Amino acid sequence: MTMSTSDHYFTSQPSSASTPSTHEVKVRSLKMLLAGDRGVFNQGELDWGTRVLIENADIPTGGTLLDLGCGGGAIAVALAMLRPDAVVWAVDVNERALDTTRASVALNKLSNVRVALPSEVPGDVRFDAMWSNPPIRVGKEALHQLLNEWLPRLVPGGAADLVVHKNLGSDSLAKWLVGEGYTVERHASKQGYRVLHVTRA
Ligand SMILES: C[S@@+](CC[C@H](N)C(=O)[O-])C[C@H]1O[C@@H](n2cnc3c(N)ncnc32)[C@H](O)[C@@H]1O
Repeated sequence: MTMSTSDHYFTSQPSSASTPSTHEVKVRSLKMLLAGDRGVFNQGELDWGTRVLIENADIPTGGTLLDLGCGGGAIAVALAMLRPDAVVWAVDVNERALDTTRASVALNKLSNVRVALPSEVPGDVRFDAMWSNPPIRVGKEALHQLLNEWLPRLVPGGAADLVVHKNLGSDSLAKWLVGEGYTVERHASKQGYRVLHVTRA
């Protein structure tokens, strides 16, 4: 991933020059076009963890779905294509990521994705399901804060699927979630990537 030394993929306004690109990605039954850019996670390539998450997603029909930390929009676009009757929120702190997600949404001619900064999602919106390849690199405290902010916005009976590599702390994250009162099951596992299925206990 090419970035300026001061940029992380979660920087709100990356300082590296914008270099938009387009990538064709096949996952499940989908052929989707993904926009990419410098300063945005994986720059339009489908991350392995994200692939495992999408391949194993059990997506409810209709309803309101969340891609938490949408990056270039891979998860949001897949959800929106697989469930045209759902409303998909794609949320990120990185403004270039949001522009990139908007480009991905336009490339696939989708009209059921709302792209927003966290602060732009109305407080009364609740989610039937959430997916995230969460930003582990923000550090444990910030990650826990992020999850504590969004998981309570699941409707009763709703679930979040989080993909985390075992070398990046999937087991300790699962333990922390259980300590916070959630039920956690290992929904899928491939090449060290674990999909944690999180529901309220
Ligand atoms: C590992 S990347 C995943 C990107 C994309 N979902 C994918 O799978 O390709 C995590 C994303 O979370 C975003 N992020 C970091 N902190 C966040 C926060 N507090 N709220 C929302 N998104 C955040 C980062 O900017 C980054 O785009």
